[in-house]
Formats: sequence, structure tokens, C-alpha cells
Amino acid sequence: MSTSTNQRINGTRLWSTLMAMAEIGATPKGGVKRLTLTEVDKAGRQRFTEWCEALGLKVRVDAIGNMFARRDGRDPTRKPVLLGSHLDSQPTGGKFDGALGVIAGLEVMRTLNDLGITTEAPIELVNWTDEEGSRFGHSLMGSGVWAGVYTQDKVYGLKDLDGVTVGEALDSIGYKGEHPAKPFPADAYFELHIEQGPFLEREGKQIGIVTGAQAQVWYDAVITGQDAHAGTTPPSTRKDALVAAARVIAKVDEMMRARGDDGRGTVGRLQVFPNSCNVVPGEVRFSIEFRHPDGAEIEGIAKSFPAEVKALVEESGCSLELKELFVIAAQPFDKECVDLVRQAAARLGYPAREIISGAGHDAVYVARLIPTAMIFTPCKDGLSHNEAESILPEEAEVGCQVLFEAVVARANR
Ligand code: GLV
Ligand code: MN
Ligand code: MN
Ligand code: MN
Repeated sequence: MSTSTNQRINGTRLWSTLMAMAEIGATPKGGVKRLTLTEVDKAGRQRFTEWCEALGLKVRVDAIGNMFARRDGRDPTRKPVLLGSHLDSQPTGGKFDGALGVIAGLEVMRTLNDLGITTEAPIELVNWTDEEGSRFGHSLMGSGVWAGVYTQDKVYGLKDLDGVTVGEALDSIGYKGEHPAKPFPADAYFELHIEQGPFLEREGKQIGIVTGAQAQVWYDAVITGQDAHAGTTPPSTRKDALVAAARVIAKVDEMMRARGDDGRGTVGRLQVFPNSCNVVPGEVRFSIEFRHPDGAEIEGIAKSFPAEVKALVEESGCSLELKELFVIAAQPFDKECVDLVRQAAARLGYPAREIISGAGHDAVYVARLIPTAMIFTPCKDGLSHNEAESILPEEAEVGCQVLFEAVVARANR
């Protein structure tokens, strides 16, 4: 049974619910700060729960705080079709990164209720814990534990910059759920997300048919030099950890640029110690990440970068401790699920193109276990991880309609 295009989601309701979620953690510059496992995240989770319960859906929470709300299908033996994304944000995040996929999923559920549709397979809405990785330095945390990529114990021990562990943070907001954080049988997963890049807008496309996601490698780096007096220490005896870090940062940028338009290399977090104007810095802690659509590029970097960068730091008279946090392989999405997205966009007459995701998404880990696809909508100037991130209500509606069609088609196949 295929869906009919006269089954329309409610774009006005979708937008007002997105705006209601954006009030939770709203920043003065029009963005959102809803850091994972904080009181603000808890408030977002509670609002999400109320909205699900108003639809008659019970919310289940697993031991890493992932939230699931199942809508029964006609056939209890069928595995559910999952849809969703994440409600946590970057510290200077936008209103839509993550929230769009969760709230659009809610709108799919609301529309099914309004139209009195019972799908064959159950449909299950998900809010994954800590997609962003900005608080504990580890992205795709909830989906990674669910998919068995990381152990729960390892993740529980990760600390934020104040020394609070993931386990403590889950306890303190009351979201260490009773259900085990492990996969349950599921038929497919669909995630709607803003593109977070410029290509759809530039080409006037309303829908990105996401065929896969690029590879990544992330590191934690600590450079140790020696604290010393800024006025009395001559160049010959300095062990300036910040100068060494600056060389590493320049190297990361150079490696990225050498790979052309597809290269990505970022140092986004840096702490300088003792961080005093007149002390030569003795220690610098920072993050490094590389991404590329071709997994072989990232494998190559993972092999050669540690030795190269160690030599560079030692030339600066300092020492380096480099910890590889994770490598994510390039992840192709499921052909049949991607086709459902393509067919929905075509049936609805929305201009669309294929695209590879530059950002990490929970879908990347979920795709290791079950057939998965993503849908992108354009965002203004391709800007994301920025409080000014913005999309048009029509774009949210178009993306949600494609999500609806693809999910219902899969659940009724
Ligand atoms: C998270 O949003 C990421 O792609 O790093
Ligand atoms: Mn996101
Ligand atoms: Mn993000
Ligand atoms: Mn992301």
C-alpha cells in the first residue's frame, strides 16, 4: 500500500511546535543552548514527553537516556519503523539542528492520529542522547551505545570540563532509564535534518536525498611544556606549549586544504594553562578532528598523523599525548530506504538532489544495524552550529511531508 499525497502534515503546527521547543534554552541572539543532560535538556525532554503522551504514546527511556515512543501498527509481529533525531544542542546552537527531526517525527505521529491511520508496522519516535558531543567531547553518544559501538560503562565515565561524568549527569536529571541501552528489533530508521551546509540552497533544491555520511577521526591532545616567566625566559630555554599547539593547528589546516573542497580538519576546543598574560604556557589541551567522504583518506590520516604531529611538538621542545577518541567509517545508507525518500520527493514534485552528509548524525550508527536513510532540508547560507541558523517554515513542512511519505510507505510495505 503506498501513501497518497492528499495525506498532508500540518506545517503550521509543525512550525509552532519547533518554536515552542526553541524557547527551551533560548539564547539572546536567537539560538538555543540545550547542552546534553543539563536541566535545560531535561526541560526539553519533559516537553517532548508531554507532547507524546497527549497523542496516547508512552515514552520509554533507556539506560543512556535515549527516549522512544511507539505507535502501534495493525500487525504486532512487524518490527517498528524508527524516526527521530536529537534535542541536545551546541553551546551556541541553532533552533533546528536535531530538533527538526524530532519535532517533524512528532508531527508525523500527530498527522497519523488526525487521519485515523493505522500503519501495518508500528512506528517509533526517537530522541537520541548527546548527538552533539560538545559537553563530554564525544558525539553520537546515545546512538553509539544503542548500536553497540561504545560500551555503556566507557561512556558513563566520560567527564565534562567541570568533572561531572555522564553517569552522574544522567542520574541528576533523572534520565538513566530502566530499559537496557541496546538494540531491539527494528525494520528501518529515517532521520530528517537540516543540511548544515550550502549546497541545497545554492542549487534551489528543497530536498537532499542523503546517500551516506563521510568518515571521521577525532582526537584529544595534551601538549606539555613548562610554565615560565614571560619577562625573563629567553627563546633558547622556552618550552611554550601554546606555540607548539599553534604549529599543530596550522598543520591540521594545511592537511585539510591539501585535500581540496572535500577536506575537513578542525581544532574547535582549546584550553591554555595557566592562562595568565605573563606566564609562558606550560600546558595546552585541545580537540582535533578530520573528516572526508572517502574513508581511505581518514584511514591514512589515522595511520600517519600521530607520528607526524608528535615530531612537530617535540621540535618545539614539548611533549604530546594524543588520544584517538574514535574513527567513524564512511557510512552508505540503505538503497531501498534512500529510494523511498527519492520517490516521495518525486511524487510530491519537490526539487531534490543526492547528497553525502558532511555532519555526523545518529543515523550513521543506526545504519550499522538496520536499513537507514536521511532527508536534508536547506538552511540559510548553509550556516549551522551557530545561533543564526535558520530555515523557512515551508522548508520544514516540505521535509516533514517527505519524512511522512517515506516512513508510512515503509511501514505499509
Ligand atoms: C555534530 O553535529 C557533528 O557533526 O559533529
Ligand atoms: Mn544534528
Ligand atoms: Mn550539530
Ligand atoms: Mn551532527
